[in-house]
Amino acid sequence: MQLVPLHISALARLHDKNPPIFPRSFASSRSNNGLTQAVEWDEYSFFVLGNRTFIQSGEFHMWRLPVPSLWRDIVQKAKSAGLNTISVYFHWGLTNPHSGEVDLTGINDFQPFFDAAKEEGIWVIARPGPYINSETSTGGVPGHLRSNDTFYHDAWQDYWTGVIGLIAKNQVTQGGPIILLQIENEYYNGPGQNDRPVGVVVPTFVNDAGEFNNLVNDTDIYGFDAYPFSASNCGNADPTVWRDVATTWRSYFDATVPGQPHFFPEFQGGSADNWGSTGGYGTCRELVNTNFQRVFFHQLWASGVTAENFYMFYGGTTWAQLPYSQGYTSYDYGAPVNEQRQITAKHAELKLQSLFLRSFSDFYMTDLIEVDTTTVPSLYITHLQNPVQGSSFYIFRHNDATIKDSFVIATDFVFGSSTLRYSTASLLTWLDLSGSDMLVVYGYAGQSYEMAFELSGPVTLSAIGPTQIQGTATDPTFTLNFSLSPGRTLVHLTAADGKELAVLIADYDAATTLWQPTIAGDGNYANYIGVSASTPLLISGPYLVRNASLNGQQLALWGDVAETTTVNIFGPRALSSVEWNNVPLGNLTQTRQGTWQATISFSQPAVTLPDLGSATWRFRDSLPEIQPDFDGFAMIPANQMTTTSVFPPYYGAPWILYADQYGFHAGNLVWRGTFLHDSNTTAPTAVNVSASGALNFAASVWLNTHYLGPSDTRGRTNNNSFPVTEDLLLTGENHVVVLQDHMGGDLSGQDVCCTPGGRARDLQQPRGLQGYYLVGRDASAQFTGWTLAGNFMGERHPDTVRKIYNEGGLYGERKGWHLPGFDDSAWEERTPFEGLGQPGVGFFRTTFTLDLPQGYDIPLSFVFDSAVGHYRSQLYVNGWQMGKRIANIGPQSAFPVHEGVLDYHGENTVVLSLWALGNGTADTRIPSFKLVANGTYAGGVRGIATNNPDWDELRGKYGVSFD
Ligand code: GAL
Repeated sequence: MQLVPLHISALARLHDKNPPIFPRSFASSRSNNGLTQAVEWDEYSFFVLGNRTFIQSGEFHMWRLPVPSLWRDIVQKAKSAGLNTISVYFHWGLTNPHSGEVDLTGINDFQPFFDAAKEEGIWVIARPGPYINSETSTGGVPGHLRSNDTFYHDAWQDYWTGVIGLIAKNQVTQGGPIILLQIENEYYNGPGQNDRPVGVVVPTFVNDAGEFNNLVNDTDIYGFDAYPFSASNCGNADPTVWRDVATTWRSYFDATVPGQPHFFPEFQGGSADNWGSTGGYGTCRELVNTNFQRVFFHQLWASGVTAENFYMFYGGTTWAQLPYSQGYTSYDYGAPVNEQRQITAKHAELKLQSLFLRSFSDFYMTDLIEVDTTTVPSLYITHLQNPVQGSSFYIFRHNDATIKDSFVIATDFVFGSSTLRYSTASLLTWLDLSGSDMLVVYGYAGQSYEMAFELSGPVTLSAIGPTQIQGTATDPTFTLNFSLSPGRTLVHLTAADGKELAVLIADYDAATTLWQPTIAGDGNYANYIGVSASTPLLISGPYLVRNASLNGQQLALWGDVAETTTVNIFGPRALSSVEWNNVPLGNLTQTRQGTWQATISFSQPAVTLPDLGSATWRFRDSLPEIQPDFDGFAMIPANQMTTTSVFPPYYGAPWILYADQYGFHAGNLVWRGTFLHDSNTTAPTAVNVSASGALNFAASVWLNTHYLGPSDTRGRTNNNSFPVTEDLLLTGENHVVVLQDHMGGDLSGQDVCCTPGGRARDLQQPRGLQGYYLVGRDASAQFTGWTLAGNFMGERHPDTVRKIYNEGGLYGERKGWHLPGFDDSAWEERTPFEGLGQPGVGFFRTTFTLDLPQGYDIPLSFVFDSAVGHYRSQLYVNGWQMGKRIANIGPQSAFPVHEGVLDYHGENTVVLSLWALGNGTADTRIPSFKLVANGTYAGGVRGIATNNPDWDELRGKYGVSFD
């Protein structure tokens, strides 16, 4: 519901209660950590390189976009949204796959990101954990730690030393972009990792899980996070139902850390979603929508917050086995930039808020004057005032925040050489237009607004645009009144003394199309606002303006368009040429509003995608383990007899069948048990297994080649007895094969603990068989042994590019059938649409060449049929596991895959594993599978590299045979 703008008489009543006192005496006292003055703070805000800074940040995890050459795309989209900071989690498990190895290469090497951030003018908040939560398997804690009793603190030292080295050399004190370092995440029950890492001089901080007073004095700065709408399974929520907004934040900060800026290291920017949700991320985006951004983000401001990081700005993909046990592949998060890297309405709202913050520095330092809930019935109004300048900001919303809207309006402040008395329209930004000021405001079409400036009369007014403006001079104030029409209206005011002022008035939709790129200044931080960069341009039209350079009268712009676009540029008085993506734009004209106008032409290029429905697919069975003569390829004896897990086996002796103990921490697991039978032994009446693999896992059980059935009732552990008849038994060796998936580790949050023997319980949840038994036989005639298959070579996996979470232990994965370069020419031709015809596991491979037009960003997705079926399928694209579909749980059926994983100008290999758990037609085949384009944008970032090691390198070299 739209909030009606505050009527001017109400604003006057509020204002007159607390008239500005100007100037007021103010003694500033800055603090620092004694190690550097590059990042300091006082009770109002941070200072970066001496400049008071409102930290406006968004969260991005580079490892969730496994194409390093695309990281700059996200950085540019953050910059264009007006953010000045990006916050990043590192990933311990990816970086430290086994004890002693620290891998800072490829997707673990964030240097290209730091370089891009620095060049684009974005600060970085580094959050290396070690524990990160983040809906990734065991919150990033590597599997090798789960399996033994290593003292947690000792275990992270290698990782910590490695990433801290990378962080230290990218600190602002070293000429890099890193301004803050988070230690741990939502940590309770100290001490945890609280030593200052060697070489780090920027301030350290904690991110408390709420208003809980944890580790308040253990780092330089204290912050906490909040997820008002909870952060999981938003796909099941009713997006129309809201919760009320907290009003305790300011008093909690004041009481807990007086003298420090109010800092939210994370605030809800979207939401995670879990397996089995009904609505998926579409619902998340609707729940945590632009109204949420307005009401809740403004409430942060009302609480004096001047450092805020929205989690996530770009969520991306929790590809392969990176998700935690409840999370599915997509981490779209309903974020401002969606998983396909497209900007959404939330990017636009974030931009409106961020440009306001970027442009009006009076807001970085305010005192609370009053919270007023009575002057205007039903409105909750927070009055803030800058103690030095005397400017006021009124943040208003409904008393009942579930009526969803909020605005900020301002009074008594100076911009450039002009003074605004008040405005009931929202402020967006202001520009110095070659010596005269232009203020940009917005509101809702159809609503009436009033603004007043200090201008000595008589004043001449001219207005160009759809909105009718009335001007009234009451010397020395000039007042504008208007009922807002859609579009942009430019008002020119000239005072008696010759002072000129422009006001650009836009309705909400028109305001969202505006961009304000920075123009680089001088020095090492040339693109940073507040240090060196300037913002003399305001541009409307393009889908995205990434950046700009202005060289005398020559303007160059870079960005993306998805249709022929009229670009309008406010700014330079004289302009001789405009380039768009390095191509000169013809027909540059000047409009009545004084903008420079040109046309960016776009013609839809041919985007030819393969029809995977009619492509040639090749098939091979991937379950040879059930055959009596199976050769045991890449299986190891599961013969350990003790465990340190706090979750002991229920029954089954003597072997502990927990995969982590054998070095397998991700992906599918195949267990093969042997027992003997002949005419003298009692036949078992049933095979019993208690398989464990987290809530949404599945297991399938075979006795010899006979399928006993599925075990997937959505319990953490499923206990099933499968009846056995004597005709299924062989004389001699018999085999029970259990295929299960490892859904990723659980999150343990604050339970991660650090004292010997006090390891987090949930990290030790077993993945494997917690019970096994041949029913009807006594203890002496049970299994004679078990073997186990997990991902190829376990913790010593050879794929240094795609890393340890990429593969599981299906036979086809072990053999490398998912990799490019595998020779499948001898395989049977068969499509996944024909499927297996029976329960089991098979691999389907196809290849195709893409030759997509250069110079375009064309997000592609692989789309499974959304029909319910009792099957699980993994999608491998050029060897990268980019999706897991569970067709009887869902919700995800479309899997975005970026250029870089896909080769847009060469051959691509797509492989589907199909694990059919049921017998019906819907269970044993994939009804349809397509490759679709989600858009075509002329622009994008160029030069996207592919790096897809092939079968020879990852299997042939290790002596694996083709057959
Ligand atoms: C926070 C946590 C993040 C993430 C988020 C929910 O509490 O710090 O890592 O898990 O919740 O998406």
